[in-house]
Amino acid sequence: MYRDQGGFEITTDSAAAAAALSAAITAFNGWKLAAMPQLDGALAADPGCAMAHAVRGLLLHLGRDARLAPQIGVNLAAAKAAPGPLTEREDLYVRALGDSLAGRLTGAITAYETILAAHPTDLLAQRLIQAELFWLGEMGWSADVSQRIAPAWNRDVPGWGLHRSCRAFDLEEIGQFDAAETMARQAVELDPTDAWGTHAVAHVMIMQGRFSEGVAWLEGLKDHWHETNQIALHLWWHRCLFHLEQGQNDAVLEIYDGWVRNRALPLVQETPDLYIDMQNGASMLLRLELLGITVGGRWEELAALAGERLDDTTSPFTAAHLAAILAAAGRFDDAQTLVANLAHFAKTESESATLAPRTAAAALPAARAAIAHRRGDFNEVIAQLLPARRLLRQIGGSHAQRDLFILLLADAARHAERADVVALTLADAREVGFSDPQTRVCQR
Ligand SMILES: [Fe+2]
Repeated sequence: MYRDQGGFEITTDSAAAAAALSAAITAFNGWKLAAMPQLDGALAADPGCAMAHAVRGLLLHLGRDARLAPQIGVNLAAAKAAPGPLTEREDLYVRALGDSLAGRLTGAITAYETILAAHPTDLLAQRLIQAELFWLGEMGWSADVSQRIAPAWNRDVPGWGLHRSCRAFDLEEIGQFDAAETMARQAVELDPTDAWGTHAVAHVMIMQGRFSEGVAWLEGLKDHWHETNQIALHLWWHRCLFHLEQGQNDAVLEIYDGWVRNRALPLVQETPDLYIDMQNGASMLLRLELLGITVGGRWEELAALAGERLDDTTSPFTAAHLAAILAAAGRFDDAQTLVANLAHFAKTESESATLAPRTAAAALPAARAAIAHRRGDFNEVIAQLLPARRLLRQIGGSHAQRDLFILLLADAARHAERADVVALTLADAREVGFSDPQTRVCQR
């Protein structure tokens, strides 16, 4: 029996496997690229290591790509077949993987909560539960979890800074901006490669309208992201947001082409259609167009990738962006096929499928609205989004990301001369915490 970086037992006879798994978990917790290669190293050293299989499957599941299901299934089967007995904690991770693959995301979340009740300093469980709850739009729940485990943490526990970064992002999403910023800044001071703490501060700044400060914040930290995974590209997307809000459109396009959707970057080449990257790209192009800025042929490369995923229902927020991409590229038939597949999924999945009702309540109206907006059918945009807008949280993502659909609704309302709807979108933007909704919504 060996122990990992957090002091938790790993069931394996191989010291090399335990060391590699520990390194993999450390890398994943810190948003570093090394996570998957280290996991593969762990499994090379001990092909029967259940926890390495469980973690590998869970990381693939976080990739929100239906095409990965067979690989996840292989990891699940191997984890279940591994020689035991496993620890109770390991058993719960394997159970979380089974629930994740079956679409029972709340089952996986319950497993993480159970792990954290027994092991409140298990940063892996904190990272995983936050990721799941974030993509369900349940950041209040995530904030409850991180507050519950906080008393068990102190500076001497490995991963203290990352624990605080996770908590800071929870606090930001529930509107506790000052506490979030203080906590995240402390984490980044401890470790400037802490991309998640960096990200939490960027979120506070966009909500508070501190745009030039946001550019400076990210500029000062960008050289620390060499080993960071795709969250680095999301940080560049955040920087685009800060420039966009200041009317610095050339800077937005330069960063878009140089980072957000630079197909020459190894990070993008490896997984050109990673869900978060597709969201970043679609969201920024649409925001530019809402401001009347021409984006040229930039939709095409996104559309070629989106066209391959018309039956992917693993991420409601991504699906709505894929619909926007396909419509923007004039591929309305593909966009309608995607919507039909989402509707079928929402209707036919079992009651335990966490995403089915959320797809119906949030992803379908958002996808249909994006398509209708591209057709210039502004009354249909309003018909889709006005009744759904307060449920859109269920699509997942952050306030800053979901804001795209508030902007779409406001734009449609202006075209349709519906001042009442514009007023409601302003109220919504204010309610979720944007400091200056009038300028943000009405400048478009
Ligand atoms: Fe973000």
